Amino acid sequence: MFSKYLFLVFLSARGYNNNGKHRYPGPATAARGRVVDLRSDTVTKPGPAMRQAMSEAEVGDDVMKEDPSVNELQQIAADMFRMEAALFVPSGTMSNLIAVMVHCRERGDEMIVGDLSHLHIYEQGGSAQIAGVHSTTATTLPDGAFDLEELESKIRHDYPDPHYPRTRLICVENTHNVKGGRVLPLTFLQEVRALADRYGLSVHMDGARVMNAAVAQRVAPSTILQHTHTVSVCLSKGLGAPVGTVLAGPRDFISKAVRCRKALGGGMRQAGILAAAGKMALLEMVERLEEDHRNAKTFAQALLDCDPPLFAVDMAAVETNIVRFHLQPSFSPSEFCDRMGQVGEGEEAALGQGIQVLMYPYFGNSVRAVWHLGISPEDTQLAIRKMQFVASQFLKEKVRAQ
Ligand SMILES: Cc1ncc(COP(=O)(O)O)c(C=O)c1O
Repeated sequence: MFSKYLFLVFLSARGYNNNGKHRYPGPATAARGRVVDLRSDTVTKPGPAMRQAMSEAEVGDDVMKEDPSVNELQQIAADMFRMEAALFVPSGTMSNLIAVMVHCRERGDEMIVGDLSHLHIYEQGGSAQIAGVHSTTATTLPDGAFDLEELESKIRHDYPDPHYPRTRLICVENTHNVKGGRVLPLTFLQEVRALADRYGLSVHMDGARVMNAAVAQRVAPSTILQHTHTVSVCLSKGLGAPVGTVLAGPRDFISKAVRCRKALGGGMRQAGILAAAGKMALLEMVERLEEDHRNAKTFAQALLDCDPPLFAVDMAAVETNIVRFHLQPSFSPSEFCDRMGQVGEGEEAALGQGIQVLMYPYFGNSVRAVWHLGISPEDTQLAIRKMQFVASQFLKEKVRAQ
């Protein structure tokens, strides 16, 4: 008992929670040299043009539907996604929750969701605790998709038998975060939609990064979204807006979503200041995602080429801006991330400067690194040099210790 307590204190002091998983560390407070922040694409800051657009935005009371900038953003999003209507909401989490609330409106409704989806893992079970919706999970395959037979087996057919919940909704995630930014194949989406149509279900896409998927597949977002009834698209990730997500779908779905947003406290007043950034995100920041994908691939290839060979990465799985990789078992993800985030002994002499590369230990004993508009090709090269330095130091220390 006592030793368990000491172990927990040790974990807690090192930034771990009591499940042994790493807590998200804050940004380096005392930066020593260049910081390359690969923790998430949510760390982006609006640049001068976006800030100017925000400061000049026309605004009104959006709860009264009178904010011209919000209205314009919603129209741009609806047109771009070829959906009837769209709604500006504060976050991806709220957007997904609203979608679940609208699709599953009756007590006893159930949704099928990926076991490794953001909605299921990282949204605090909001669909259960706030919307009162029951979830059943489908196994997430390496590419973020589901086995269609398994998916079909999860659909309940017993309504109105009072013993069972009633299946209403299938949720998919594109790109898939935990699986390392994987892009859902269009054929998979088409098949999911056909299945949903057969059983009268709705399909919601957590498309927080669907623009990355569209860029990677070289298609318009509407080519992807034709297979879904509704979508949630984050503006505040790779697209660089400081805040905001758009939820899009049929007009009657969005009318109900407006009510849910208000109930959740997401009715923002002069939100045009944020919508102005959102407009720029959708209209001007999509093409540059290609650069993030290129930088991510460059880093992934450098991991593979690293001498000593400490890293494993599936290059075919590096499709967008997220790289998930594994290390040799003797090098733990948290130790690697700690070393990448600190300026090590002899580093300034060896590299000409201190480089702090921030990334997270991640699911399944892996490490996740995410590219975004704050990371240039030059930053990527710095991250590579640091990774090589950390790898060679680690090996030297291991040899010395033998
Ligand atoms: C796939 C996915 N969905 C939803 C969200 C939630 O977005 P937000 O942080 O805006 O609530 C995230 C956030 O990282 C995400 O990666």
